Amino acid sequence: MNKHYSRILILSGAGISAESGLATFRSSNGLWNNHKVDDVATIEGFQRNPALVHDFYNELKTEIQKAKPNAAHLAITKLQQEYPAQIDVVTQNVDTLHEKAGNQNIWHIHGQVNQAVCLNCGHILETWGDVDTQTICPQCQVMGMMKPNIVFFGENLLYMDKVDDALRHCDLFISIGTSGVVYPAAGFVQTAKYYGAETIEFTLDQTANNYLFDRHVYGKAGETFPPFVEALLQDIKK
Ligand code: APR
Repeated sequence: MNKHYSRILILSGAGISAESGLATFRSSNGLWNNHKVDDVATIEGFQRNPALVHDFYNELKTEIQKAKPNAAHLAITKLQQEYPAQIDVVTQNVDTLHEKAGNQNIWHIHGQVNQAVCLNCGHILETWGDVDTQTICPQCQVMGMMKPNIVFFGENLLYMDKVDDALRHCDLFISIGTSGVVYPAAGFVQTAKYYGAETIEFTLDQTANNYLFDRHVYGKAGETFPPFVEALLQDIKK
């Protein structure tokens, strides 16, 4: 790479959390192989059977709470601490492993499993405890209007003001552990490229939008991303 970057956007997907023991969505034993997306990741599914959706995310929450960040998450913290650039972490993941690793500037565009939103008053309830159809909103005291603060298919992404700014101004776009099949996030690389960023992806398998990346690093992110961070840090010493 041999260039000094001033603004870096890191887009992460489920693959960055795989080595922390969390299931991805589309691999052979992925979440979408064992659950119907329509039932647990759409507004219609939530309206049809909110208890089923709450059960799914309450179970996921328990798994996620036990997970620990891995070397890829920690390498992002090292990069943010030692590399003189603004570095945004735009994550599709609803786990909090970026936070646990000490990453900063984290934007959960698909929401977070440890949050629920009140459909009556908009209050965001932060909790690792179960949320269900009996949960009372601590702000408006209405029962049964809490929804997991997860962006369902068809809903708008969160923090898009921050993402748009980062996409327009980043000179290095790094994708880690995403299959590149779910839009709008899968289109971010194209926007970054349009505005002149160099693009690199870290993934296990060929991704759907791989043609938009200048470089591809195949392998487990916990093994491939830390050396990449070391190389970037060496470059600024030259
Ligand atoms: N290191 C690097 N990449 C990995 C690893 C790993 N250890 N393990 C898996 N991967 C890669 C896979 O090769 C794949 O490209 O991570 C990607 C995981 O793809 P998906 O399971 O589709 O997950 P993701 O891309 O995050 O899904 C996007 O889809 O269902 C929605 O909202 C959900 O945020 C999710 C979105």
